[in-house]
Formats: sequence, structure tokens, C-alpha cells
Amino acid sequence: MFRYQDNILHCEKAALTAVSSQFDTPTYIYSQAALRQNAQAYLDDNPALVCYAIKANGNPAIIRLLGNWGMGADVTSGGELFLAQHAGIPAEKIIYSGVGKLESEIETAINAGVRALHVESEMELHLIAETAARLGRKTAVGIRINPNIYAKTHPHISTGTHGHKFGVTWEVGHRLYQFAAEHEWLTPVGMAVHIGSQIQDVEPYVKASQFLVKQADSLAAEGIQLRYLDIGGGLGIKYDDPFASPQELILEWKTTVSAPILNGGYELVMEPGRSIVGTAGVLLTEVIYTKKQGEKMFVIGDAAMNDLLRPSLYDAVHPILPVEQAAEKVETVIDLVGPVCETTDCLAKDRAIPLPQRGDQLALMHAGAYGFSMASNYNGRLKPAELLINGDEIHLIRKRETVEALL
Ligand code: LLP
Repeated sequence: MFRYQDNILHCEKAALTAVSSQFDTPTYIYSQAALRQNAQAYLDDNPALVCYAIKANGNPAIIRLLGNWGMGADVTSGGELFLAQHAGIPAEKIIYSGVGKLESEIETAINAGVRALHVESEMELHLIAETAARLGRKTAVGIRINPNIYAKTHPHISTGTHGHKFGVTWEVGHRLYQFAAEHEWLTPVGMAVHIGSQIQDVEPYVKASQFLVKQADSLAAEGIQLRYLDIGGGLGIKYDDPFASPQELILEWKTTVSAPILNGGYELVMEPGRSIVGTAGVLLTEVIYTKKQGEKMFVIGDAAMNDLLRPSLYDAVHPILPVEQAAEKVETVIDLVGPVCETTDCLAKDRAIPLPQRGDQLALMHAGAYGFSMASNYNGRLKPAELLINGDEIHLIRKRETVEALL
């Protein structure tokens, strides 16, 4: 939970001024209480298996907490499978999705005994079948169907129509179920969709869950009985409100998507990422310089697009808050930029804030999802540290990289 106390931004009981002087910047800071609240909104009174999408934030300490609270994992690479297992998540709670699984990854997932591999093409299903036969292990599969449902979101994170690379059409999916049902080493157990990310409207999900039930019922009529339906993830958060919490939307979403699937007699799987970790994290940056260029006022901070790529990649807006609220309330319109040699290295554009000075700190809010997990070493920059705060305890959950990481 982030809030101001005595004009200083706090994460739970820790003042961010103290945190930054101890751990330096740029640094990701996560609130355990916020994680817990968001996770509980999903887990309470929910018969579904909630598979946290590790791609949103792969920090081992965070995955371990979510796993301890009862979540499974949605993984998309051998690396994420490793992270899920490392965090102690049991294999039967792990779903493996992804359009380009390597043979070595398929083999590892089969040997691990994951709940299911979610297949995204005909060639992939054949490779899974061959691998399962070679290993002599009967393998559970689900098919990810591309339902051709349009969800209004940024085009770069919309996934559920036929123009996107994800999943297979129902025509192909139907054939794949028949193939899997007849194959000695495969068992079709589920059907999945994932229609996009940062979706703030429940309506397309109603369509998606009805679609799943309809197709699963049609398979059942042919004698192919699936156990579960997986509605994917994608629920959005309110990036325009620095203190917004997604709980209400999660509760509404959970009830709405569950009804058709549970009433249809199927188990339910969900794969949320952003809505669990997004609001639970901020990226703390320190101002290095300010400069005026023509009409434009630039604030140059020590965080850059390599630390938080979302604004450069999707024009994403993260609220910026001063760690210390100034008495001076006069606002200046600024661009917050980083040291990277790219014009798109702009973390916040045309924002009216009290003009910060060299050494001041700013928090980029709602940076817990797709923040560190998309960080890179571009421009020879070192990936930031990550801290988890629980009350007044501060845990360093990832050390800041040192130059050795560049070699
Ligand atoms: N399941 C599958 C199969 C996915 O591909 C994703 C996200 C999720 C679940 C979790 O979606 P969420 O609940 O987090 O929206 N980097 C982008 C978001 C990319 C999402 C990719 N897939 C961003 O920063 O907005």
C-alpha cells in the first residue's frame, strides 16, 4: 500500500526517502500487503485454479508468496517453468502456454508433469505427441483457441482475434482435439483463451466464457470430455489513478466469468498477471538534472526505458509522484526522461508537477507488472534492485546488478 504520511510517500510503514538512501535508485519497491489484497480478491471464495502469469513479474520472492497463498502458475518458457518450480508451486498447478515452445522445453514440461501444455499450433501438437511417445509419458494437453473476440486495449497487447499469432481457430482446434483424443500418449483435458491484456471491461470476457462452454459442450457431444476451461488473464488496472486498487474489478470479473463455466459443469482456470502485481509496485528514480530546451522542460532521472519499457513501447501512462511533497504547489509541465540514447526514452510526457530539483526522488506508480520483467541491459545499464516491504520490514529481493552482468 502506498500513501503519503507527513508529506513523505510511504510503502506500508517504510518512508521511501529512507529506502532510497539505504538502497539507492533506480529501484523497484513492492508492497506485500497490496499483493496480498489483490491475490485474495482472486482467491477468496473461488473454486477456480488461479494460475499467476509469471511474465508479469518473475521475482522468486513474489512467486513464492503467491504460491504459498494458493496460486498456481501460468508459464511461457522453460525459464518461467523453472521459476515456478523453484518457488515450490506443485506441477499440477502449472499451465504451460506459448506459441513457440522448444522441443527441449516440451520435454522438460512433460517430465515435470505440469497440469497441461496449452497448444498453439498443429505442428506443436505433433511435436508434443512425438515427445510424449518417446518419453513414454501420457501427456495432458489443452488447446488455446483464438476466439476472434476483440477486446478494446492497446493494439500491441490485444491477442484474441485471427490477425494475432496466438492460439488456433476453432476449426483447427476441433481437429486437434480429435487427434489428441485418439493419440495413445495424449489426453485432452482443457481449453483456453486469452483475449488480451489491460482490458477494463468485463463484457468481452462474458463472450469468451460462453464461447468456451459452447465449444467444450460440442466436444462432449462427440465423446471428448474436457475437465477445465481456462479464461486466460488480461484484467486491467487504473493507470490514471496513482492510488487505485483493482479489487472491485477483480471481484466483478471473477463472478462474471465463473458463472457460465461452473454452471456448465467445468472446472475453471484463470491466468491473471497485471491485476495482482501491477498496483503493488513502484519504480523509484532520482532526478539527476533538469534542463529547459525551447519551451520544453526536461527532468532527467536515473531510471530509463531499460528499467521500465511500457511508456516507450505502448505509450503507457504511469502516474509520477514526488517522494517528498513540496510546499511549493506551482506546477510545471515536464517530460521525465532517462539517460538512454533514444528519443522514446521518456517515462512520462507533458506532466504538470512541482518542478523537481537535482537529488529529488520520484515514484512511477503501478510499475509492479511488466516493469522489472521487461528490463534490459540496453546502453550498458545495470538492472535495478527490487525490494519487498512488509510493514516496517524491508527485504532486498533482488540485488542491483553490477558490471559483471555485462560480460
Ligand atoms: N495468460 C497468457 C497466455 C498471456 O499471454 C498473458 C499475458 C497473461 C495470461 C497475463 O495477462 P495479464 O493478466 O497480465 O494482462 N507487456 C504488456 C502486457 C503483455 C501481456 C502478455 N500476456 C504490458 O506491459 O502491458
